[in-house]
Amino acid sequence: MGNLISVLVHCEIRGSEVILGNNSHIHIYENGGISTIGGVHPRPVKNNQDGTIDIDLIESAIRNPEFEICYPKTRLICLENSHANSGGRCLSVEYIDRVGDLAKKHGLKLHIDGARIFNASAALKVPVDRLVQAADSVSVCLSKGLGAPVGSVIVGTKSFIARARILRKTLGGGMRQVGILCAAALVALQENVQKLAIDHKNARTLAEGLNQIKGLSVDIASVETNIVYFDILNGSHINALKLGKIMEEHGILLMPDSPSRHLALVFVQELVRGQIALCSNGLAHLRRRPLTTRRPLMMATEAPASHLRRQQPKLRLLTYKQWPSPMTDGSSPLRRRRHDQPHVS
Ligand SMILES: Cc1ncc(COP(=O)(O)O)c(C=O)c1O
Repeated sequence: MGNLISVLVHCEIRGSEVILGNNSHIHIYENGGISTIGGVHPRPVKNNQDGTIDIDLIESAIRNPEFEICYPKTRLICLENSHANSGGRCLSVEYIDRVGDLAKKHGLKLHIDGARIFNASAALKVPVDRLVQAADSVSVCLSKGLGAPVGSVIVGTKSFIARARILRKTLGGGMRQVGILCAAALVALQENVQKLAIDHKNARTLAEGLNQIKGLSVDIASVETNIVYFDILNGSHINALKLGKIMEEHGILLMPDSPSRHLALVFVQELVRGQIALCSNGLAHLRRRPLTTRRPLMMATEAPASHLRRQQPKLRLLTYKQWPSPMTDGSSPLRRRRHDQPHVS
């Protein structure tokens, strides 16, 4: 809802156009809400492997206002930092500033989907406020590695937020007695931001471990933050679906994304080195079995708030809320959770 509201505030006139990455969360994973709910026309432009979009491609996607008789009016550019589908890679402050300059030059707004902006900040060692200086609005998830059970915030000018609050209410997002969630948000911001660097180190350790397993491959250079993608190499007999089943026996849940492309998100309360080894060891069992088709998988380490962590088992693997059906019986992962299944102690 954070991205949706932000786009809607910037593109209040129906038929406005937004330039965004063709591999961005807003374009791929948000039910096309900007168009179905907001009447906003998406203009997807190719994302590079590192999550950037070439500046000249952005510029050439901006509609020429002289042809407004035919064209929708470009009003907004969206970036995503860190970029989830590229494996959590970070957009540099220099790049964002250049896109900001371009937006200003053409009278456009810049929104940053900063669901994992704190991860980007930790990896780049650039403060968040500097990282988003060129933006007119930013959405931030407090649940992505920072550990709040739910919650996103959006940041913008006073008038932006005033309008955003009204839209939030319209969309059914107004909440009462919400202090308990705010408490978790405070823990996320006050206690967990500084722990992200540990997550990143652990993700790298995991990536290196996976890379040593015959039949799997990880592009180590792409592991900049808390997400690890890995491939099953060609010539293997196993596919991601089967791998998911095997890993489930080891307490590690992989999430199939589609029949041809599977991804797994592993939400871990506190991923310590021994537990990383557990992930790698579970996968290492596959060495004895040949693996098949090249299928990307993703693991992400996103730790919940420490106050919740204290009450729960050390390593808890939570399935992702959008767990799709092909791998299982289609039931919700939370409903189908058995006490012996996703928990590894
Ligand atoms: C890059 C990115 N943007 C936005 C979101 C949206 O967050 P939420 O699911 O809290 O709406 C997510 C969630 O996974 C995300 O990964």
